[in-house]
Amino acid sequence: MIYFNNVSKDYHLELNKATKRALDSVNLAIEKNEFVILCGKTGSGKTTIMKLISGEEKPTFGEVKVGDLNISEIGERQIRNLRQRIGFVFQDFKLLPYKTVFENVAFALEANNYKDDFIKKEVFRTLEIVNLEDKADSFPNELSGGEKQRTAIARAIIRKPEIILADEPTGNLDPYNTRDIIKLLLKINLNESTIILSTHNKDIVNNIQKRVITLDKGMILRDEKQGRYVI
Ligand SMILES: Nc1ncnc2c1ncn2[C@@H]1O[C@H](COP(=O)(O)OP(=O)(O)OP(=O)(O)O)[C@@H](O)[C@H]1O
Ligand SMILES: [Mg+2]
Repeated sequence: MIYFNNVSKDYHLELNKATKRALDSVNLAIEKNEFVILCGKTGSGKTTIMKLISGEEKPTFGEVKVGDLNISEIGERQIRNLRQRIGFVFQDFKLLPYKTVFENVAFALEANNYKDDFIKKEVFRTLEIVNLEDKADSFPNELSGGEKQRTAIARAIIRKPEIILADEPTGNLDPYNTRDIIKLLLKINLNESTIILSTHNKDIVNNIQKRVITLDKGMILRDEKQGRYVI
C-alpha cells in the first residue's frame, strides 16, 4: 500500500542555500493494515517519512507511492484527496481551543455538507471508541493530556481513514496515558486502519511486539517484524 523506492529527501536551507539530507536511499513497503513503529534519534527522519506519505513534502530522488498515487506526480487537488484518507495525530494534539470536544471532532466532517443528525451520530460513535462521550461539551483546556489526545484520535478516525500517521502521540503524556493511547491505536488497527507511529518511548517499542523501523541519519538501520528498541 505504501512504497518508498530508493527515496532521498533534501531540505533546502534558506539561510545559506545549503541542503540538508533528511532521508537517504530509503526502501520501504508497508502493507494495508500493518502497524509500524518508526523510531530513531531526533533528526533521524521520522517526521519526514510521514510528510512524504501525506504529500506534504515530495521526494528529492526516488519514488513514494501511496496506493496507486505517485507522490511526485500528483497535484494539489489529489494531495487534498489523499489527506482525506489519512488521519493525523500529533504530539501537541492540535485541537481548536475555542471549540468543544464535540465540535473539534465534528470539524473533520464539516467540509462534506453532511446533515446535522448524521454528524451527531458519527461524532458520538467515535467518542464512544475513545471513551469520551461524557466530555463532549468540554473545551480542550478542561481536559487532561490523555483526554486531549483521545479527542485528537477521535478527530483522526471519524472518517475511517485508510492510514493513521501518529507522530510522537505520547510525547507529552505520562506512562499511564501513554499505555492508554497505544492500546487505543492497537484497537483502531484491528478495525480498519494502517498505523504508522513514531516514538522515542522504549517501553512502547519493546512491549507491543510490532514491526519496528529504526532510522539513523535518514537511513534505515533496522526493519524488524517484532522489533526491539535499539538506538
Ligand atoms: N523544513 C525543513 N527544513 C530544513 N531542514 C529540515 C526541515 N524539516 C526537517 N529538517 C531536517 O531534516 C532532518 C530530519 O528531520 P525530521 O523532522 O524528519 O526528524 P525526526 O526523526 O522526526 O526528529 P524528531 O524526533 O526530533 O521529531 C533533521 O536534520 C531536520 O533538521
Ligand atoms: Mg519528528
